[in-house]
Amino acid sequence: MRVLVLLGAPGAGKGTQATILAQRLGLPHVATGDLFRNAVRAGTALGREAHGYMERGELVPDAITIEMLIERLGRPDAAEGVILDGFPRSRAQAEALESALLVRGERVEVALLVDVPAEELVGRLAGRYVCRLGGHPYHVILNPPRVPGICDVDGSPLEQREDDRPEVVRARLTRQLAPLQSVIEFYRARGILRAVDGRQPIDLVSRGLIEALDPVTTA
Ligand code: AP5
Repeated sequence: MRVLVLLGAPGAGKGTQATILAQRLGLPHVATGDLFRNAVRAGTALGREAHGYMERGELVPDAITIEMLIERLGRPDAAEGVILDGFPRSRAQAEALESALLVRGERVEVALLVDVPAEELVGRLAGRYVCRLGGHPYHVILNPPRVPGICDVDGSPLEQREDDRPEVVRARLTRQLAPLQSVIEFYRARGILRAVDGRQPIDLVSRGLIEALDPVTTA
């Protein structure tokens, strides 16, 4: 089982890169943000619980998030591996993932950090549109779709995310960068952290991530 973790601040490009890596590597892209947004849209108990945290720009509590992710990892399409986008987001989540994998004799292969300074993130999130069906991200200037308003990947309409309003973006950056740092340190201590400069154009970031993956895969 290949478990790849994509780390980065809100708006760093995790979803953009996870979509590309999933196609390249033939692994499912599992994004906890998408799982929560789907639950909110479906009006489930999980969605009702998560919604308040998301609209305030806070992390959803670890217990809820870990249970949801472990359940997702147990589905048949994840048997060969996954690309995790947006999980783990705290040290407790990183430890829970490590324990869940250890039980199966598995471990995280590599943690790929898409590194973007905080001052660039606000502009990226302000111009972002995502598709309704798959959450595929675009940017009005930096990464426009081929047909305006329509997703290149699945043809669904594009819309702005509720949590990309400026005041929520500020809250996300204020509250979420410190826990991210603790996850970066967790994987650095295990020797499996690889960082790529996320300020580069999208295709160069992808290339950097694939190159960062290679020494690990071939080791
Ligand atoms: P989530 O959906 O995970 O949001 P996020 O981490 O804030 O990340 P984003 O999806 O906003 O950004 P991204 O890094 O994927 O960037 P993107 O590729 O879209 O989480 C949402 C909420 O759910 C959280 O706030 C929290 O409440 C909750 N949650 C989720 N997971 C959780 C967890 N594990 N624990 C607790 N709570 C959790 O790119 C951004 C923009 O930049 C796009 O417009 C894109 O086109 C553009 N772009 C991308 N790459 C480049 C580039 N190289 N150059 C120029 N533009 C680029």
